[in-house]
Amino acid sequence: MKEKILVTGGTGYIGSHTVVELQNAGYDVVIVDNLSNSSADVVDNIEAVSGIRPAFEKIDCLDYAGLEGVFAKYQGIKAIIHFAASKAVGESVQKPLLYYRNNIGSLINLLELMPKYGVEGIVFSSSCTVYGQPDVLPVTEKAPIKKAESPYGNTKQINEEIIQDTVASGSPISAILLRYFNPIGAHPTALLGELPNGVPQNLVPYIVQTAIGIREKLSIFGNDYNTPDGTCIRDYINVVDLAKAHVVAIARILEKKQKAKVEVFNIGTGRGLSVLELVQAFEKSTGVKLNYQIAPRRAGDIEKVWADPSLANNELGWKADTPIEDTLLSAWKWQLHLREKGIQ
Ligand code: UFG
Repeated sequence: MKEKILVTGGTGYIGSHTVVELQNAGYDVVIVDNLSNSSADVVDNIEAVSGIRPAFEKIDCLDYAGLEGVFAKYQGIKAIIHFAASKAVGESVQKPLLYYRNNIGSLINLLELMPKYGVEGIVFSSSCTVYGQPDVLPVTEKAPIKKAESPYGNTKQINEEIIQDTVASGSPISAILLRYFNPIGAHPTALLGELPNGVPQNLVPYIVQTAIGIREKLSIFGNDYNTPDGTCIRDYINVVDLAKAHVVAIARILEKKQKAKVEVFNIGTGRGLSVLELVQAFEKSTGVKLNYQIAPRRAGDIEKVWADPSLANNELGWKADTPIEDTLLSAWKWQLHLREKGIQ
């Protein structure tokens, strides 16, 4: 029998790619999403990619009764991947209570319902933001957690602690916390990808929108950092590689292979790229020239961060192996697909 996995935020950017990889691996997926930052059409696109239509419930994870109804309807949910969250760093500074309510309330509801419905484990979508500016690079999971730069970042730290405390209290669940570095790119079919609301805040969505002419030029935020070319360095990870990390994390929980009830893994490539290097890689792989300018630094930016992913490589048997050129090309093809559909 196929094991049933609940994916919250399953119509979102990382969620939708993960649903496809779960289905490819033979899991039965139930999606819960309130569609606050995605559309129900994504369910059709998931089906177009995988050939299997996932169950879908338009429910807000803050709605305890609604969520409980999902566990009652789809008996035998074995594990959860929890993506559903508000994720705009800038907005979280303007509306902290919205972020604390959404991101923390949702997790609490899930953790309360899990033992009641015999759900064995949860994979939580965390972020390298918990490390702030690490003192040592590449950063390992043992690096200290730094004070969060934004309410959004704080919700990731608090949620990690909530999971640790819940498991320590004797809750019969286990957890894997995946700390993502910078997810980019789209599905190679160009049927799934990131659909930013309004002006993109993240680098790759801004690059592809500039390349296609929606934005006039990319502003590179600062070229006076202490890095070889002066621009910030990040660890950009392909979204399909990232999605696959969730599948191995789920298998590890269900096959009871965990070495601790709560495990933490960095999910990155281990390679840092500067903003300028990324722009050059985009131009090289797509053949499209990008209009850009150097602009002042953006408040709150970390100078440089990249992962030591060896724990995930060795323990999960997972590795991010998509070349950056392929990833950037996938982002570009997704943007061309959006244009073709008249979406953006
Ligand atoms: N950048 C530009 N121009 C842009 C957008 C971004 O130069 O128009 C630069 C940024 O300054 C940064 C790099 O591109 O150096 C990457 O920026 P992103 O916004 O794409 O990603 P961040 O590293 O800032 O964001 C990540 C995660 C968030 C997390 C945040 C914490 O995506 O979830 O780190 O700092 F909260």
